[in-house]
Amino acid sequence: MLSAKRILLIIGGGIAAYKTLDLIRRLRERGASVTPVLTRAGAEFVTPLSVSALAGHKVFSDLFDLTDEAEMGHIQLSRSADLIVVAPATADLMAKMATGRADDLASTVLLATDTPVLIAPAMNVRMWQHPATQRNIATLKGDGITFVGPNAGDMACGEHGPGRMAEVPEILSAIEAALGDGPLRGRRVLVTSGPTHEPIDPVRYIANRSSGAQGTAIARALAALGAHVIFVTGPATVPPPDGVTVIRVETAHEMLEAVESALPVDAAICAAAVADWRVASASDRKIKKTKGGLPVLEFAENPDILATLSQRTTGRPRLVVGFAAETDDVIANATSKRTRKGCDWIVANDVRPATGIMGGTENAVTLITADGAEDWPRTGKDQVAAQLAARIATALS
Ligand code: CTP
Repeated sequence: MLSAKRILLIIGGGIAAYKTLDLIRRLRERGASVTPVLTRAGAEFVTPLSVSALAGHKVFSDLFDLTDEAEMGHIQLSRSADLIVVAPATADLMAKMATGRADDLASTVLLATDTPVLIAPAMNVRMWQHPATQRNIATLKGDGITFVGPNAGDMACGEHGPGRMAEVPEILSAIEAALGDGPLRGRRVLVTSGPTHEPIDPVRYIANRSSGAQGTAIARALAALGAHVIFVTGPATVPPPDGVTVIRVETAHEMLEAVESALPVDAAICAAAVADWRVASASDRKIKKTKGGLPVLEFAENPDILATLSQRTTGRPRLVVGFAAETDDVIANATSKRTRKGCDWIVANDVRPATGIMGGTENAVTLITADGAEDWPRTGKDQVAAQLAARIATALS
């Protein structure tokens, strides 16, 4: 619920502005008040009348509107909210934010504010991928701006790829997370989860049995403590939790790319069961049975995402947590894995079949840190997740 929360909603000029009308309704249903700011370009896509009717509030649009200045100046407007949401955030609006320009009401409010800002970018895929936009994204993330989306998919302009504005339920979840009161409020935490699928040809792949249950439980527990969770998941069997930004990937390479584009984060929890190898040259055509013999698959090593993150020289998360599934010498193996990969903590499991942990609902873990090994009592995976999230909150406090 968002009772009594005050949202200042900046609507930029993009086709996705139509989704923002629904966002206003859903915010009000949850008890939030919405003060709308409509940019000049935004008004080309949705009318001030529909925005004000849904928001139940006057629409602000002009920096030099004397009535507005008399009633509420732009500085006061920027301070009169618990959260500023920009949806859709266009490439132009993001460029203005990144360079500190203030040539209209929206950009002036964004420059004058000391309130947390959440943006939902929406633009053509080429615009999103352009180095200028990518530079602006890095700057904005560094300035502590929270992102939700964009998602990949078919776009109104007929192209395909990242750039589509996040859906309304995702934006709502991100707003709820941003306004959460838990100890991780204002923290960005990355969680990798699930298996990866490594293609052999267009119809076959190599995978593993990870369900994604533990990673999902951890993401949910972190979001419950107020973190903005970026959840990078392979094709898991359990659905992703609510209230997190979900990035779906298939392969280890895609997972690494998604992880790197989510940086900077305060902490990264690598719970994914990443395939260690991929087929060196996956066929782009279905491999047919031949009389001549069996196909021979040659393997190549996948990038180690946990080690790559841990060993970054710039932008390393303050806390990097890995997992180790072991059948023998659990503590010794997990301790050397921690040093080898360079992460801060390792959550080690004993996955011998007799323990019933693999695929089960319970888990018994040993937390390996620089200070040594700590056995946690066997309990449900949700409780393990809650305990880990609480430890992460303490470490980041
Ligand atoms: N991991 C990763 N990228 C990989 C492989 C593993 O990020 N390509 C991460 C996992 O998410 C997990 C940890 O590394 O946090 C597990 O390490 P790994 O060496 O794969 O462990 P096991 O499968 O337990 O290893 P081993 O092959 O050493 O038994």
